[in-house]
Amino acid sequence: MSLVIAIDGPAAAGKGTLAKRLAAHFDLPHLDTGLLYRATGRRVLDAGGDPSDAATAEEAARALLPEDFSRADLRGPEADAAAAAVASIPAVRAALLDFQRNFGAERGAVLDGRDIGTIVFPKASVKLFVTASAEARGRRRWLELRGRGIAADLDEVTDQVRLRDKQDRDRAAAPLVPAADAILLDTTDLDADATFARALALLAQRLGTAGRSQ
Ligand code: C5P
Repeated sequence: MSLVIAIDGPAAAGKGTLAKRLAAHFDLPHLDTGLLYRATGRRVLDAGGDPSDAATAEEAARALLPEDFSRADLRGPEADAAAAAVASIPAVRAALLDFQRNFGAERGAVLDGRDIGTIVFPKASVKLFVTASAEARGRRRWLELRGRGIAADLDEVTDQVRLRDKQDRDRAAAPLVPAADAILLDTTDLDADATFARALALLAQRLGTAGRSQ
């Protein structure tokens, strides 16, 4: 199988930044799978539908087009809530599975999300579970909002991060859980450069070991 790097973890743990850098380093395509759920939720909202209605959400997932992923309105509280709602529907997850698998199968890829190592690519070459304390992740989200000129309360933002953790972990369909063979990477005290360096070292170890054992 081509090199598939699966990166999972909770919101604002640093998965996206890390995934982009690893993709550039290994010259692989990158897929931010959260965008699939965000774009599905947005399509439902556009049509005036209810993101938690299974049939409506599944139809939206099956109708996704490449241009849906580059919309400017895929982030923010409304988009977050719609994405979380559609992501908890098994028929939506099933509708998006082939796209994710085909994306990685062709020539390898870096994919980041919540269920890449457990469901989308259970046989990925290497799996990282990237996490950080809720306080650190709340702070990062808050700084990100400030950077975009949005004033927000740090405690409220941290509470929202905790709520999303709970939603992701407690849902029945593809709950957020590290794969048994995932390598844990805690970024609480690491900046983006240190996270990247640590990930490269972990990958070299894992891929080197796999290479020797074959
Ligand atoms: O990662 P991001 O915050 O963009 O994800 C948006 C939503 O999609 C979240 O609610 C998350 O739980 C969901 N998601 C998912 N499975 C993935 C990626 C994201 O359920 N592989």
